[in-house]
This record gives sequence, structure tokens and C-alpha cells, in this order.
Amino acid sequence: MTNIGFGIDVGGSGIKGARVDLDTGEFVGDRIKILTPKPATPTAVAETIKEILTQAEWDGPVGITLPSVVRDQKALTAANIDPSWIDCDLRALMSEHLGAEREVSVLNDADAAGLAEARFGNPKAREGAVILLTLGTGIGSAYLIDGTLVPNTEFGHMVIDGKEAEHFASSAAKEREDLSYSKWAKRVSKVLNEYERLFWPSLFIVGGGISRKSEKWVPKLSVETPVVPAELRNRAGIVGAAMAVDQHLHP
Ligand code: BGC
Repeated sequence: MTNIGFGIDVGGSGIKGARVDLDTGEFVGDRIKILTPKPATPTAVAETIKEILTQAEWDGPVGITLPSVVRDQKALTAANIDPSWIDCDLRALMSEHLGAEREVSVLNDADAAGLAEARFGNPKAREGAVILLTLGTGIGSAYLIDGTLVPNTEFGHMVIDGKEAEHFASSAAKEREDLSYSKWAKRVSKVLNEYERLFWPSLFIVGGGISRKSEKWVPKLSVETPVVPAELRNRAGIVGAAMAVDQHLHP
């Protein structure tokens, strides 16, 4: 029998969900996407998630990503999401909107991507200390030790030369400042060099939309550590979310 789960990825522009084959990491059936409500308050997002589950006719356990630190199923930060998420009790929220009987696991978006890459992506993601970064509006991070996730690292907020890494090296910063790949790669190198100096990882995995064009900038990086693009691409969040609830992870 196939082992099927359901994951939902909450992003700044869209909220996406799909059934996931937990043995292969592939989607089963279509991915459903609904535009992120504005403002993206906890109630509005939870209602959108409910709508996705209704459309999918899924009443089983669900894993959900959030671009926030999640500890004890409480959202603690809101760097790029509505500030009303701070201190939100995610168990209470989801039980109110998705049903008290349903098992729900909410976790950081980059952590979900890390779980998925370690299980279904590059086998090297399971060896030694690995840092996965998602480059988008912000910079998300997942820190993996021999494939085990250390949750809630927020390496994108590391202050380098007086500035938070994600403020000058995210792909949003590249667009905002209209930087060439070469100029932007210099900034990303600066960030990776700092992570190298402090964590000595064996591998960097780079994800997020811009990793699709990795051949344009990864070769321009000046780092000692190997850098590879993520393999699951935009599937990683949904797959990692489905894995998290299947493993009863409730960070
Ligand atoms: C948030 C992280 C998140 C990342 C990517 C950052 O601004 O602080 O929690 O993982 O953006 O969405």
C-alpha cells in the first residue's frame, strides 16, 4: 500500500498544497494553489488552508510550512509575513479552523525543504553538517547533521558588516537593486564565507526560485565548500511538510 500524506506550503504570494507519496517524495494528483490572502493574517491563512483541504477532499493529517520560527507550535517571528503571526498559538488556530481531531504540524518553511532534500534529494545532504539555504524574499536556512534537522536556525538574519544577510543577499535584494549575477554572487559569497568560518559545513545546498538558474551564478561563487542546487525545487516545502506530520514532528 502506498503511504500518502498531505503538505501545505504557505508563501508570500501563494498557498499551495498537494498529496505526497511519502515513499517517493512525488506529488499524487494535482497541486492546488490559492493566492495568499491580503492581509495574510493567521485567520485568513488558516481559512485558505481549509479551502485547499476541502478542494482536495483530504481530511487526514496535514503538515504546514510557515516563514517563521516555530517553537512549541507557536510562531515567534514575522520577518516577511504579517506581524499578527507573532506569538500565534498554531495548535489553537489550526484546531479551530481545520478541526480539533486532525493532526497538524506547522514548521519553518526552510526546515521543511531541508527535511525533504535530505530524504529525497542529493544523498550528500545526509552526510555531515549541511546547510541548505532558500533564496527568495528572505533567506531561509535548514541545518542538517547526518540528515537530522536542527530546527529554527535563522542564518539569513546573521549580521554581516552591520547588515542582515537577507537584506543584501536574498534574490529579492538582487531584483530590488537590479544586480547582475556577478555582483549578486559576490554578496552571496560573502554570506557563505561567514557561514564557512563559523560552521565548517561539508556542503551548501541552494534552493528557492533562483536556484533554477544556478548555472548562472553558482560557478561565480568564491567559496571553499561545494555548493549544489536543491533537487526538489518548489516541491520541497510541500513534501517536507507532509513528512513532518507523518513523523509526528511538532517543533
Ligand atoms: C524568515 C525565515 C524563513 C525565511 C524564508 C526569513 O525572513 O525569518 O523564518 O525561513 O525568511 O522564507
